[in-house]
Amino acid sequence: MAKMNENFLNLKESYLFAEVAKRVKEFSAQNPDKKIIRLGIGDVTLPLVPVVVDAMKKGADELGVKETFKGYPEYEGYAFLHKAIADYYKSFGVEIGTDEIFVSDGAKSDVGNIVDVFGIDNTVLVTDPVYPVYVDTNIMSGRKIIYADSNEENGFAAMPDKNIKADMIYLCSPNNPTGSVYTKQQLKEWVDYALENKAVILFDAAYEAYVSDSEIPRSIFAIEGARKCAVEFCSLSKTAGFTGTRCGYTIIPNELEVYDSNGNPVSLKKLWYRRQSSKFNGVSYPVQCAAAAVFTPQGQEQIKQNIAYYMKNAKLIAETLTELGIKFTGGINSPYIWLKCPNGMGSWEFFDYLLKNIQVVGTPGEGFGKNGKGWFRLTAFGDYENTVTAMKRLKELMK
Ligand code: MLT
Repeated sequence: MAKMNENFLNLKESYLFAEVAKRVKEFSAQNPDKKIIRLGIGDVTLPLVPVVVDAMKKGADELGVKETFKGYPEYEGYAFLHKAIADYYKSFGVEIGTDEIFVSDGAKSDVGNIVDVFGIDNTVLVTDPVYPVYVDTNIMSGRKIIYADSNEENGFAAMPDKNIKADMIYLCSPNNPTGSVYTKQQLKEWVDYALENKAVILFDAAYEAYVSDSEIPRSIFAIEGARKCAVEFCSLSKTAGFTGTRCGYTIIPNELEVYDSNGNPVSLKKLWYRRQSSKFNGVSYPVQCAAAAVFTPQGQEQIKQNIAYYMKNAKLIAETLTELGIKFTGGINSPYIWLKCPNGMGSWEFFDYLLKNIQVVGTPGEGFGKNGKGWFRLTAFGDYENTVTAMKRLKELMK
């Protein structure tokens, strides 16, 4: 008799975005004539930029020629992409080794899979509200999870508590879902806490390309000491519209160590390479060519135009909420706007209210944790015209 992994019994019945999609599908089936505007899941709407498409096509062409054909890619990615990523980090003052980069099909997979290399008896700390993947993957493997509150009082930037011990710490800045960002000083406090506890920070930098303030760190490795206590996950999904194309990367410093049960240090990078080479066969060549094109001067220029387009949406949403007197955070160094549901409404209540009355879809804050109760997330990744319409409808509804 095959037994189930009973940790799954501790999960919520469905993944947050699957639940949102289900409710929208039901509404749509009952109201086929209504035009729904989706500002829920952070999925991009602009196409890949020309330089990326050209690089992908060229990569595909090479696969069709005997002399340039390639079979299995390297488990950790091609050297040309490692160099492009390391040079990109250098452009904002962070040195990483090309041998510390692991290319993958996206940050979600790596953030979820990294738990394989950590013992079950680690205590996991997540900030609340939180991107559900950090929680779900640790519930699936049966680790103890503790929560650090991000709330209105601390500007949705949870800070470490010296009296609480954690071994694995998930941080995300710019934050999904609240759009808040950690300052250098705040991240330094987390790094110091991790070093003191011999803990590892799992830093999700998926939204770093949205940071426009040069004082805000775009990488945990901009912080002194982080190389000894942090892993960084990044993705081209939101940076360059790769949500469907799939490519991301994880950076594990050579000096980062975890410990066996006798307290002996073990290289985390080695463990991750071992895990990846057993369970992952790499990212396709054309996709890695496309990813490398993102980091060329032309690629950077083209993706910056897309980012500016999304940030124009963020500005419009922020202005509308300000006009309506609705409290919010985010929308400045981040594509997410995190708002307090008006008139004391609950998150799912507000979700249903918007869907039913103006056919605008957002994400209920409650789905991200207890501190999200009464809050709601809108994304700036929509089409501009649709965002304009959504904001017009919201103004009429809330007046
Ligand atoms: C989100 O909407 O939070 C993200 O799109 C989810 C993800 O990146 O997996």
